[in-house]
Amino acid sequence: MSLLNVADLVVDHRTPGRPAVRAVAGASLTVAAGEVVGLVGESGCGKSTLARAVCGLVPAAGGAVAFEDRPVTRLGLRRRDPALTRIQMVFQDPYASLNPRRRVGAQIGDGLAAAGDRATTPGEMLERVGLPGGMAERYPHEFSGGQRQRIAIARALAARPSLLIGDEPISALDASAQAQVATLMRNLAVESGAGLLFISHDLSVVRLIADRIAVMYLGKIVETGPTARVWAEPRHPYTQALLRAIPEPDGLGRLPEELPGDVPDPADPPQGCRFHPRCPVAMDVCAEREPAFGPVACWLHPPA
Ligand SMILES: Nc1ncnc2c1ncn2[C@@H]1O[C@H](COP(=O)(O)OP(=O)(O)O)[C@@H](O)[C@H]1O
Ligand SMILES: [Mg+2]
Repeated sequence: MSLLNVADLVVDHRTPGRPAVRAVAGASLTVAAGEVVGLVGESGCGKSTLARAVCGLVPAAGGAVAFEDRPVTRLGLRRRDPALTRIQMVFQDPYASLNPRRRVGAQIGDGLAAAGDRATTPGEMLERVGLPGGMAERYPHEFSGGQRQRIAIARALAARPSLLIGDEPISALDASAQAQVATLMRNLAVESGAGLLFISHDLSVVRLIADRIAVMYLGKIVETGPTARVWAEPRHPYTQALLRAIPEPDGLGRLPEELPGDVPDPADPPQGCRFHPRCPVAMDVCAEREPAFGPVACWLHPPA
């Protein structure tokens, strides 16, 4: 059983008077209990939309999302399925996701209440994320960015999620806090037996914490594999390009916002393989037929 099973998920964004944007175009991904999966890809490739569909916040136009073997369908805000509190999200900007007018202890208390946990105190949750328990009486503005993200993690974990999703949770932090917060998230998720879907464009940090990497391109997962294998021996030409684009091979670089070539419009994706117009090794078949298979969706790597 997978904790999370995303199968051929399709999500469209509709804006009146414009063509629909197919932000997720048949993506498949699994996360097992206790597993850390890093989801990487350029800005705009559909990572956040996939995460929102997993939480039932945007409807699927096709495919399926199953969480703990139950389908996640779109739920109205008033009718959030209690099972979905077992999926908790941590966002890029903790200042936006925390209420500035409430003490952080009270906000962490909401998570504990959601889990029916009357034994744990907010101060104990703060200590788990490396902050003094006495800080529960303070307000969000009294903390640094890295500390606020620790508070957001404490609040998420207080709800006892079985799946934790971080959507670029370290992108707004100082370089010194990034690896610390990422490692903290990994350790706390694994300790509690939860799965972690960690979305980031910083492949060097993902490499430190993920058991498995999923690479997304224009709405699809183009390669998945164990982190060490993907890092040492990337197979999809897009993954290879991403790794080459990291300026420091010792892991100090970041994914670029763009690779050479045009970033295709998700409202009008290329025929065949979506990456073929930018691919240095494209063959005739790549323009004609979509490589709709895994774990490497590339005609150079057909399944055995
Ligand atoms: N609410 C929205 N309405 C219309 N288009 C959207 C909306 N949110 C995202 N998009 C578009 O969907 C695509 C994927 O966006 P997103 O999921 O945010 O990607 P990522 O998180 O990888 O940067 C982009 O082309 C983006 O412009
Ligand atoms: Mg995003």
